Amino acid sequence: MKWAKEREGNKELFSLNRRRFLSLSGIFGLALISGKIDISMASAEKERKMTYQNKDYNRLLGMEGFSDTLLKNHFTLYQGYVTNTNKLMDALNQLLKEGKTGTAEYAELKRRLGWEFNGMRLHEYYFDNLGGKGGIHKGGKLVQKLAESFGSYEAWEKDFKGTGTIRGVGWVVLYQDILSGKFINFWINEHDVGHPAGGMPILIMDVFEHAFMIDYGLKRADYIEAFFRNINWTEVEKRLLLHKG
Ligand SMILES: [Fe+2]
Repeated sequence: MKWAKEREGNKELFSLNRRRFLSLSGIFGLALISGKIDISMASAEKERKMTYQNKDYNRLLGMEGFSDTLLKNHFTLYQGYVTNTNKLMDALNQLLKEGKTGTAEYAELKRRLGWEFNGMRLHEYYFDNLGGKGGIHKGGKLVQKLAESFGSYEAWEKDFKGTGTIRGVGWVVLYQDILSGKFINFWINEHDVGHPAGGMPILIMDVFEHAFMIDYGLKRADYIEAFFRNINWTEVEKRLLLHKG
């Protein structure tokens, strides 16, 4: 299963970086013993700002159509991406400082960054655009914009849902092309592949199996309907910021 593949990938990352982390923690421990390290409040604050933090989505528990078991598993998966993004950034920065940008280790970690970072950020967009009550504001700017790109809101919704039922697992993303202002529904097969350049994510739906199988089995269309009943349209409309047209 895809989920298993993701977890396997995370394990690989831990393994690849184990030597690096042991090395770093060893240096840190020695410095403490010799009294040569002085972590000031300012540097600790700087470190905190450079580190991505898990966002708390417990507000979604109890959401109609989503069991707490499914959501809690999904939160744990998301937190793994945040952890791995931070570890990757740390390892890459260390290699940069050591002048090792020409190494195979640097290349492989750099390739992996798109997977971990997007795994983190796409889940944040997804959870953030859930938990709403009530449908889209029919007189709002988003409905107007979708109608301009698709002919009508209904046509957009049909296309978005249709994209979500494509065989395979991935993401469905309503993107706004920030140069033209137009809206396009994209199928994203893997976190790090196939995103449009200059695209602003407006609405994101996770259609990896872990997002629905615990509750819906193979009935993905039922999950998509539940997803639509819970879209936080207020949050989605806030994302219409970049294009000034
Ligand atoms: Fe997911």
